[in-house]
This record gives sequence, C-alpha cells and structure tokens, in this order.
Amino acid sequence: MAKTSDGLITFFTDDHHECDEGWAAVEAAVTAGDKAKANTLWPEFSQRLEHHLKMEEEVLFPAFEAATGMRGGPTYVMRAEHTQMRGVVAEMDRRVKSGDLDGLLDQGDTLLMLIQQHNAKEEGMLYPMAAQVLGAQWGDLAAKLAALP
Ligand SMILES: [Fe+2]
Repeated sequence: MAKTSDGLITFFTDDHHECDEGWAAVEAAVTAGDKAKANTLWPEFSQRLEHHLKMEEEVLFPAFEAATGMRGGPTYVMRAEHTQMRGVVAEMDRRVKSGDLDGLLDQGDTLLMLIQQHNAKEEGMLYPMAAQVLGAQWGDLAAKLAALP
C-alpha cells in the first residue's frame, strides 16, 4: 500500500521536474542567443506542460474528487491556477511567434513564479492527500495516465 501511494507522488513530482527542466532548456537557448534551438524547444516545453495539466485535470483530479467528494476544495484551486498558467503560456507563445524572445523570458519569469507556487501546493498537500485516498487505485490510474494522448 505504501509503495503504490509513493508511486503517485513520485510520478507527478518527477513530471514537475521534467517540466522545469524543459523551461530551463528554453531559457538557456534564448540566453545563448540560439533562436533556432529556442524555437524548437519552446513548443516541446509548452506541449509537455499542457500534457502535465491534462494528466491532472482528466485523471488525477476527477479520481480525487470522486474518492473524497471534494469538488470545491484543492482541485478547484489547482484548476483555477492551471487556467492562469495557460494564459501566461498563450502570451509566451505569441512572443515566440512574433520573434520577441526577450519578451518570452519576461513572461517566463511570471510563469516560473506561478509554477513554483502551484507545484509547492500540489507536492506539499494535494499529492500526499491523493496518495492516501487513491493509493490502492494507483495501478489503474497509472494505466489511464499512460493512455492519455
Ligand atoms: Fe502538477
């Protein structure tokens, strides 16, 4: 039981770190003046982040809400923060498309701040709570997550 619970926390926490690394790579490419690389890495990162948000919204949060009956609680707040993050990503995408990579970095600072605060809440509260109530279901959830396009 403890092992399956840890699986949920590890899976999502590792995914946070991979997203963080994705942004760090974009930032490094822009800072190095490598526009071609930045233009390649940006969509990879934004799709990676979107996939993370979808894994939570379409698999983790519904399972958590069903198991706890809590719909107006932590998942409500996390969904609202995802919307906020998507707004910044859309702005960043506009900057990339107009060739404004300095603007991308400015917006990136805002996104990074949002992500750090958001991830701290998920890792400090939501994932441990989810691991408690969903630990026994983790195998099924992991399969659903893997099947998510
Ligand atoms: Fe997350």
